[in-house]
Amino acid sequence: MRVLVSGGAGYIGSHTVVQLVAAGHEVVIVDNFANSKPSVVNRLEALTGEHLPVHAFDLRDHDKTELLFANEHIDAVIHFAGLKAVGESVELPLEYYENNLGTTFSLVRAMQRHGVDKLVFSSSATVYGLDQEAATEDRPTSATNPYGWTKVMQEQILRDVAVANPAMRFALLRYFNPVGAHVSGTIGEDPQGIPNNLVPYIAQVAVGRREYLSVYGDDYPTRDGTGERDYIHVEDLAAGHLAALTRLGTMDEPVGVWNLGTGRSTSVLEMLHAFERAVGHELPHRVVGRRAGDVAVSYADPHKANAELGWATTRSVDDMCVDTWRWQQANPNGFPD
Ligand code: NAD
Ligand code: UFG
Repeated sequence: MRVLVSGGAGYIGSHTVVQLVAAGHEVVIVDNFANSKPSVVNRLEALTGEHLPVHAFDLRDHDKTELLFANEHIDAVIHFAGLKAVGESVELPLEYYENNLGTTFSLVRAMQRHGVDKLVFSSSATVYGLDQEAATEDRPTSATNPYGWTKVMQEQILRDVAVANPAMRFALLRYFNPVGAHVSGTIGEDPQGIPNNLVPYIAQVAVGRREYLSVYGDDYPTRDGTGERDYIHVEDLAAGHLAALTRLGTMDEPVGVWNLGTGRSTSVLEMLHAFERAVGHELPHRVVGRRAGDVAVSYADPHKANAELGWATTRSVDDMCVDTWRWQQANPNGFPD
């Protein structure tokens, strides 16, 4: 297939691009580099050995999106583009609603006009709201912040479009906590500014960019008192997109919803210790107060994806840390400007 990857220069998109090319698909990237750097594309071309067409514009621009679909043959879309920082979304709600919903409107409109009927969408465990323990796909959706609401709303918009256009097929993939990097160490997560997420923060402590890890609370009702999450290796996550793309071709129902997680939870301290094993020495940390809005425990029930997509995770928490550390060591300041 010729697959348009929106947000293909971003963290999850870039890893998915490599797997798409390896599986024999052709890739077209659209990204405005709001949260990524053009040099990612050079790394992707080196990894894949292919020239990758890149359209650098804001997907909210309907005219440019229309032109892209008019000029490029496209069989399917994987839609990663969006803003994703929970805290920032509380400060900038309009920007989040505009960007995340606007990119989806442009893409789906252009798909309809050009007869493109398959889309894989980046949703999130955040749509389970406060109810994230052993989450199954039939659980009611909800949110606790504007970012989360954009995911709930985008899922609903796609369901409504599918009712109005019975030929369309949508995969809603609810990711748990993506971490890790490509085994080459040439692509990985490159947060701009202070990392919000645990593993990128630990990686920056390990490489000397941050002094110590703040552990947000050790008084949760969990194994060791720290928050537990379902960390999924980004390579397993990328493989889930390829499986969903294949599934869209044979699906009777218009919308499929799948959790992409391991089904296991790891605490903050367990993750810190796994990273220490990867690095080979202890890393400084301090326990501080809880972070507002955090749930104690979040993990997927991935059985539906295992059964229906023929997909399962294969990589351990230690693999996630070893691969993150390889990437961080080789690129202490992330991708070049
Ligand atoms: P990312 O920020 O690394 O990648 C997103 C890419 O989209 C970036 O390259 C950015 O420049 C681009 N983009 C943003 N707005 C755009 C616009 N208007 N037009 C064109 N390009 C635009 O994020 P990621 O971690 O790779 O996440 C990808 C998707 O997965 C997002 O939709 C995110 O909400 C979702 N998701 C991520 C996580 C996570 O923890 N990383 C968890 C659940 C869901
Ligand atoms: N944590 C720390 N110190 C840090 C960062 C995180 O102790 O410096 C802890 C958090 O309190 C939490 C765990 O590490 O217990 C994981 O935190 P992350 O920020 O890495 O991940 P979250 O589960 O909080 O957030 C993720 C995605 C969001 C999504 C949310 C809910 O990043 O996009 O899951 O599904 F909204």
